[in-house]
Amino acid sequence: MNRRYRKTIIAGNWKMNKTASETKQFAEDLKAILPKGKWCEVVVCVPFVNIPAALRAFKDMRVAVGAENLYYEPKGAYTGEVSAEMLKDLGVKYVIVGHSERRQYFGETDITVNKKVHAALEAGLHPIICVGETLEQREMGITMDLINLQVKSAFSGVPADKARKCVVAYEPVWAIGTGKTATAEQAAEVCTAIRTAIRSLYGARVARSITIQYGGSMNPKNAFELLSQPDVDGGLIGGAALKADQFVDIINAANQE
Ligand code: PGA
Repeated sequence: MNRRYRKTIIAGNWKMNKTASETKQFAEDLKAILPKGKWCEVVVCVPFVNIPAALRAFKDMRVAVGAENLYYEPKGAYTGEVSAEMLKDLGVKYVIVGHSERRQYFGETDITVNKKVHAALEAGLHPIICVGETLEQREMGITMDLINLQVKSAFSGVPADKARKCVVAYEPVWAIGTGKTATAEQAAEVCTAIRTAIRSLYGARVARSITIQYGGSMNPKNAFELLSQPDVDGGLIGGAALKADQFVDIINAANQE
């Protein structure tokens, strides 16, 4: 990470876990042990229905609330969907876009990811754009080409002043929820390639200001080493973010770096 140029962001991605009451309980547990230091931004991305409970519970803590998805149309006949404006109006700050589980199970593509990035930015939200390769793609040796394509299509048509509001999360699909973490070298290599792709689109100033996270089985044991890499500016954390003590251990690792 490099605190001089960009924010360090530790974000939890709860996925389809916890009820509203469990959200409240988590916030109480977290409050008791959350460090007071100001180094990194802490974000908790929760299921849509838990957002009001999360906003209430985290209100007097330095914890921002994020959503895990949104729909790109502003309003209309899209039964079951949630717009960027609805999230913004509640007080949501971040929204995860293009998580590999959404790409894999819900048909998201680079095209819909790009539309969602535009919708989020239009509403004043900070998208956390997820990119990453599968094991097959890594073994085929096309990781860098693929990441380049995912980054460039996600940012397509996004002007520089808005691009600065985005966060990118490198999440190798083979490392998500598997307990298999990318080595610090693998994470560093791809995160650096992401910054290079952003530099080619917007120049050095914007590229160095964007937070790039690593995600995929990040835990209290491996967090420090991953976060020590110069282009790894935070984490997007699934499993380990569901337990307040583990989440805090990762926040402490980020504060230590
Ligand atoms: P994991 O999930 O930490 O459980 O691997 C990360 C993510 O999918 O964002």
